[in-house]
Amino acid sequence: MAVGIFDSGLGGLTIWEAVQARLPEQDFVYLADSANAPYGVRDADDIYDLTVKSTQRLFDSGCDLVILACNTASAAALRRMQENWVPPDKRVLGVFVPLIEALTERRWGDNSPPREVSVNNVALFATPATVATRAFQRELSFRAIGVDVEAQACGGVVDAIEDGDMVLAQELVRSHVEALRRKMPRPETAILGCTHYPLMRDAFQDALGADVRVLSQAGLVAESLADYLVRHPGRTGTGSAAFLTTGDPKRVSQRANQFLRQEISFQAA
Ligand code: DGL
Repeated sequence: MAVGIFDSGLGGLTIWEAVQARLPEQDFVYLADSANAPYGVRDADDIYDLTVKSTQRLFDSGCDLVILACNTASAAALRRMQENWVPPDKRVLGVFVPLIEALTERRWGDNSPPREVSVNNVALFATPATVATRAFQRELSFRAIGVDVEAQACGGVVDAIEDGDMVLAQELVRSHVEALRRKMPRPETAILGCTHYPLMRDAFQDALGADVRVLSQAGLVAESLADYLVRHPGRTGTGSAAFLTTGDPKRVSQRANQFLRQEISFQAA
């Protein structure tokens, strides 16, 4: 059975790439809601409605497990979906918790009380909607004490990436890092809390400097999903992948090829 991977656009491909490399026999269906991207400037109800619709589309494609490879959807919609909407025979997982577990030096599902961890000053870069939920800080406070988190809402970066305007995306990254540094001059670790941002990883690292550890989610989510699938077996496949978009398949395929440097062919959802 295929695993569904959902993002508002191209960012979730960074997650798909890592997960597929870690689980080469697994089948995947990827859905990009390109017609409605970016989600990061929408309100929580809007993000919830769009995420439910896309997740249903992936269930209808035969997936019984869907990964929200989108921090904005994970932060603004996942909990509400799990409480009110996900059918009992289906599962929906987000991308936030694996990152926070890595940051707080925990193994998967370690729910012991919060404790001190080695990192103190954390910079979070995410979409305006993700920052507004404070979901990252909430999840972190369940696991760690004494961590100072400064969040920077990175308006415009997702739009620039989706438009393939990398010069603009780099300029925006630089100015968001400067804005963050005005609030937290010496972060030790920076979290790329949007699945689009690994596509700009070098720009973040350059602007932050070599002494700042930049954490992104792809590898962590891949490990966490591999662990989940070992504990919930029965989903072997042939390593196939289908790519669906609500936008223009030709345009979205071109951008995907540009970013991942491999042939990816999207079809209309
Ligand atoms: N990749 C999505 C995320 O991780 C981007 C959200 C957007 O569409 O603004 O938050």
